[in-house]
Amino acid sequence: MKGKAIEILNDNWRDGFTVPSKNLYPYQWKWDSGFIAIGLAHFNMDRAKREINTLLNAQWENGFLPHIVFHTKSENYFPGPEFHRADLHPRASKKYKSTGMTQPPVTGFVLQEMYNIATDKKDIVEYIGKHIDKVYANHEYFYNHRDPFNEGLVYIYHNWESGTDNSPIWDDIWETMVSPSYNFERKDTSHVDPSQRPSLREYDHYLHIIDIAKKHKYDDGKIGEHSPFLVQDPLFNAILIKSNQSLIELYKLIGGYEEKVVQLGKWQEKSITAFNEKLFDEGLGAYVHYDLRNNRPLKFVSSSSFSALFAGIPDKDRAKRLVNTMTQRFGGKNTYLCASFDPTHERHDPKRYWRGPVWINLNWMLYRGFKAYNFDDLAEQIKQDSIELVEKYGFYEYFDPRRNEHLVNTDKGYGGSNFSWTAALYIDLIEN
Ligand code: DGY
Repeated sequence: MKGKAIEILNDNWRDGFTVPSKNLYPYQWKWDSGFIAIGLAHFNMDRAKREINTLLNAQWENGFLPHIVFHTKSENYFPGPEFHRADLHPRASKKYKSTGMTQPPVTGFVLQEMYNIATDKKDIVEYIGKHIDKVYANHEYFYNHRDPFNEGLVYIYHNWESGTDNSPIWDDIWETMVSPSYNFERKDTSHVDPSQRPSLREYDHYLHIIDIAKKHKYDDGKIGEHSPFLVQDPLFNAILIKSNQSLIELYKLIGGYEEKVVQLGKWQEKSITAFNEKLFDEGLGAYVHYDLRNNRPLKFVSSSSFSALFAGIPDKDRAKRLVNTMTQRFGGKNTYLCASFDPTHERHDPKRYWRGPVWINLNWMLYRGFKAYNFDDLAEQIKQDSIELVEKYGFYEYFDPRRNEHLVNTDKGYGGSNFSWTAALYIDLIEN
């Protein structure tokens, strides 16, 4: 299986970056790139470095890193660069076409993973030393432009920034919006069964938010004032915090970056405190999203609720409560861990994109998280479930969490096939 994973990554390599999945996602995606680099580092460090370089080359003058970099033209994807028009922002990259939205800031912890995997430590430290300031600038961008009340928690203004694109959590936001009906040609549903993808109405909302951002030339201040979607997302913020920590450790390793280490430490303290105070829901026993536009918590449990463990955010007692919540709602012998959305909730859909299926990147983070808190059995179960799903059904984008369903029907991998981060993280899971 490792051979097959390498083959997929070789096949999806486009001389400088890796496409997440051949037809469905024909460009470079920010968080995909990071997870992919971790897998590449195990068998081709040179390529892992190029993957990250290519992403960082598309950085804007204000430190922003876009969610998609459109390196090539493709008829297979909508909305492309002509719809996004990131060039409306005065400090957008003049060299690369991209979107004007971002994705979870994984790059910091990815550099540290690359360091851990590398056999030539001197070489990798030199590489990291050349690129780490760009990642720092990206974090600086978040704290300066995405935290209007100076809370230590950054906002996302689009569901595609969360990475968990059509989570049922966003349904509550769609209810507050009056989006027009767009006339456009979906491309994703010509590659993947529509029952596994977002609905047409959801796409109207996705496009409408982009139109609002475009109207304001992607100005963060204006987006903060006017975007109907403005959310403090626990997954996004946990990843930022995890990456802050990695940057601190890497800067210390390189030496001579006292000021940056101090600044990262300040962000870290503030963010962890705010995360624990604002995002934990006592009733649910889990971290939840906060709707900053409408000033309300969005009280749902999702795989994002547990990502705080990956970043070392909860204390021991709270970590134990997260274990209970996961076991009660997501566990049981008839389910694979970890569904992306609460299986006990009526909005859970085991087949549709982020509304329920298991994702290997979330599992990878949760495995690390539970392990770091010494919940070894749960961590091991998440790891084994991930490996079993991939080995039984293939390198899919997402998987059905129902174990029974797997017994009666063997075709339970959904979305894109030969999916790059599934292949990359599978390699990392079996190598660890
Ligand atoms: C898509 O097109 O569904 C992408 O995931 C957006 O990032």
